[in-house]
Amino acid sequence: MIVRPRRLRKSAALRDMVRETTLSVKDLVAPLFVKPGEGVRDPIRSMPGQYQFSVDALVDEAEALWEIGIPAVILFGLPDNKDATGSRSWADDGIVQIAVRALKERLPDLVVITDVCLCEYTDHGHCGLIRGGGVDNDATLDLLARQAVSHARAGADIVAPSDMMDGRVAAIRRALDEAGFQSTGILSYAVKYASAFYGPFREAADSAPQFGDRTTYQMDPANAREALKEARLDIEEGADMIMVKPALAYLDIIRRVREISDLPLAAYQVSGEYAMIKAAAANGWLDERRVMFESLTAIKRAGADIILTYFARDAAVLMR
Ligand code: PBG
Repeated sequence: MIVRPRRLRKSAALRDMVRETTLSVKDLVAPLFVKPGEGVRDPIRSMPGQYQFSVDALVDEAEALWEIGIPAVILFGLPDNKDATGSRSWADDGIVQIAVRALKERLPDLVVITDVCLCEYTDHGHCGLIRGGGVDNDATLDLLARQAVSHARAGADIVAPSDMMDGRVAAIRRALDEAGFQSTGILSYAVKYASAFYGPFREAADSAPQFGDRTTYQMDPANAREALKEARLDIEEGADMIMVKPALAYLDIIRRVREISDLPLAAYQVSGEYAMIKAAAANGWLDERRVMFESLTAIKRAGADIILTYFARDAAVLMR
């Protein structure tokens, strides 16, 4: 007797009934880039369909996303000025702080997440303070904590440290609590690899390191057990949600982290993942819509509850 799995694939209705993974607009977080100015909507060359927005245009964009059901955005700032310590990152009149206040005023229910890192704000482009030619872990913690507190003060719901310094979740939690922000959450980029898939983002956020690379703080793509160690540490330090990044090349990691943690798990479909699909589609080599949904579904199937993706808007529109 032949076993016939095809019986359950015979019609669209039947396939819908037995589908194991469903993507929802509520799973999606849209990354947005904000810069000084007014009425600015500058296209990002290597990420077709993505823009650097001034605050007013950012609020309009976020409103459009909210209206199609996207619950959350994550903000990246392009400051007016960079220096050795990234001091514009914790200024109460910094670009992200202004943007958060503007978003919360127009869209109080939108979940506003802020990326916490120094690389967009330092003149050397590294994610921490440079001392003795290298990134000084412990000296960086206080600056990250200050940045997180200033985001919370502006009204951010969740801060998302992406720097990969050791001990930063604990440092940020302590600083938030001491400043009275007990209910500001932490989404930790717990498992973040030193990935070439971030290429287009560094153009988008103007955050490329001016010397060396990020291999002394971001993870080696060859390591999986180390991902579990990083995840456990951030959970112990008080993260409310954790993230694996990038997504599609790390589905095994998403699955393994899912299995050891009870926390909501996010995955970041990063700039290079988006750019590859856009470029192939622009050449007529791939069906963009189908590849977009196939990759998002794969990330969900691997175990992600939340997906940060530049496709958020396109996917949400098509899911309506
Ligand atoms: C900042 C940061 C990066 C990304 C998110 N936060 C860049 C990096 O680590 O170099 C990458 C996001 C993307 O590629 O879409 N540290």
